[in-house]
Amino acid sequence: MSIIDLKLEYCYDVGNRLLDDEHRTFFQLIKNVADAHKNHASKEKTIRLLNEVKLYASYHFCREDNLMLDSNFQGYSAHHKEHKKILAEMNDQIRHFRADDIEPGKVVSSILFWFKKHTTIKDKVLADYLRIRTNIKRTNSQQFETTKRENLEAYTL
Ligand SMILES: [Fe+2]
Repeated sequence: MSIIDLKLEYCYDVGNRLLDDEHRTFFQLIKNVADAHKNHASKEKTIRLLNEVKLYASYHFCREDNLMLDSNFQGYSAHHKEHKKILAEMNDQIRHFRADDIEPGKVVSSILFWFKKHTTIKDKVLADYLRIRTNIKRTNSQQFETTKRENLEAYTL
């Protein structure tokens, strides 16, 4: 797929509404850079759009980190490490683009590469964990309510 024809593919959805909504925004911001490139935008505008991607990535990763910590996710350390690595690589790419060492198409391809890789592997594992955890909590809560009701019924008979 050419970056010129960048389209959101929902195969990147991981089954967690919060993550999926943010990933779609994230993807749209990457697409904005690709569209700017296609429309021969100025270097200054491309840098502004790349900064949007970088800042959103930073916010989104912080949100995921907090989700992992709050849910006692065992894979936090490795996942967080990958977030830091991606942000560092993105900073590098933007710096190279500023210095005319790299063209915007390559920057977009690179961001898109780790977006797909990180989302479909690391974020999918996190989403599955959160779903299982929610289901266990729901089941425990339902069991507790059933036991409470049964006890109450037995007591009132
Ligand atoms: Fe992540």
